[in-house]
Amino acid sequence: MATNWQEIEKKDYLRTFDRVPLTIVRGKGSRVWDDNGKEYLDFVGGWAVTNLGHCHPVVTRVINEQAKILLQTSNQFYTVPQLQLAELLIQHSCLHRVFFANSGAEANEGAVKLARRYGKLKLNGAYEVISATDSFHGRTLAMTAATGQLKFQEPYQPLPIGFKNVEYGNIEALKQATTNLTCAVMLELVQGESGVHTPAGGYFKAVRDWCNQTGVLLILDEIQTGLGRLGSLWGYEQFDIEPDIMTLAKGLANGVPIGAFLAKEKASVFVPGEHGSTFGGNPFACAVACATVKFIIEKNIAGNAKVKGNYFLNGLEKLKQQFPFITCIRGRGLLLAVEFNEDIGQAALTGCLEKGLLVNKVKPNALRFMPPLIINDGDVDEALDILGRVFKEIIIP
Ligand SMILES: Cc1ncc(COP(=O)(O)O)c(C=O)c1O
Repeated sequence: MATNWQEIEKKDYLRTFDRVPLTIVRGKGSRVWDDNGKEYLDFVGGWAVTNLGHCHPVVTRVINEQAKILLQTSNQFYTVPQLQLAELLIQHSCLHRVFFANSGAEANEGAVKLARRYGKLKLNGAYEVISATDSFHGRTLAMTAATGQLKFQEPYQPLPIGFKNVEYGNIEALKQATTNLTCAVMLELVQGESGVHTPAGGYFKAVRDWCNQTGVLLILDEIQTGLGRLGSLWGYEQFDIEPDIMTLAKGLANGVPIGAFLAKEKASVFVPGEHGSTFGGNPFACAVACATVKFIIEKNIAGNAKVKGNYFLNGLEKLKQQFPFITCIRGRGLLLAVEFNEDIGQAALTGCLEKGLLVNKVKPNALRFMPPLIINDGDVDEALDILGRVFKEIIIP
């Protein structure tokens, strides 16, 4: 008899995740299989991580090769994959220096520490970071303070000081919150966890101008938007601005845990001993990230995300015309969401699951799609067909 893993989870695992009743045992490309052998089209992508799809041959090959060569040395020594990855990211971005961590939250922590050092040295001791309401920056205590959502903050108060949350998209609110204690502004270009939102008009350009005017650093959290997800290698290219610090994680090594923060030379103020990590930048994760990033760049995976994203968006727009309970389609590249006028996200997710499509219920009334960036027209057609059939069956209460 098959092991009931979901019962074991209920008994053994801390109750942190509201999981979908599906045990995934295998993946290949844009597909995964459950423990009963049923196949699913994966439009969750490990929460925007498996950009090249599951078990991509280039990724699997480097995992095998590097496992035979070297996994870990500590940062007491130089290692080749770390420095190859550093060169690759710096050559292909507007940033000048990099530090490798193990997750998104940890990358953001490092970015904030760097901004605080900058504040101490260059801004008369300024230490406050202004972030946005409805943002998501990770689950550590400091990143919980940066994450402008009460539901994440309330259970853990008191939170570390030095964070202010202001309305996303409201430049006047940001200006009013800025004081001589402010060392940085930290923003997502598209807020994924809040349901895929991006401010209209020239908000980010105005933020960039304000940071230039005040001398405050601009940190862009590109953990979800970077590495091709929005249809360009970096999200900031689409908004015609450059960050002083950028953070990455998620798709950087296609599923092997790694995070990074990159900084312009002027913000690169750490001196030896001021930051560090045991695992961060280890040869294993860096070799996998190197192969992943190289493939993304050489094969123009961001271009595919743009084209397939537009194709999917057009299809979703057609569904919106067909189903009046769809109120909004939004997003860029392959980070898209559909919003409903009722809380039917769970019913839609369950229907998709039955018909073999994995989606993310990002809000009670919204689904988010973050498929691998290597999907083809057939995958999109299949997802649209399933969504159409699911929506047809949904009964509005
Ligand atoms: C924009 C953004 N920042 C930070 C994080 C945190 O990353 P991690 O879960 O790897 O700590 C996430 C995760 O969803 C994210 O979407």
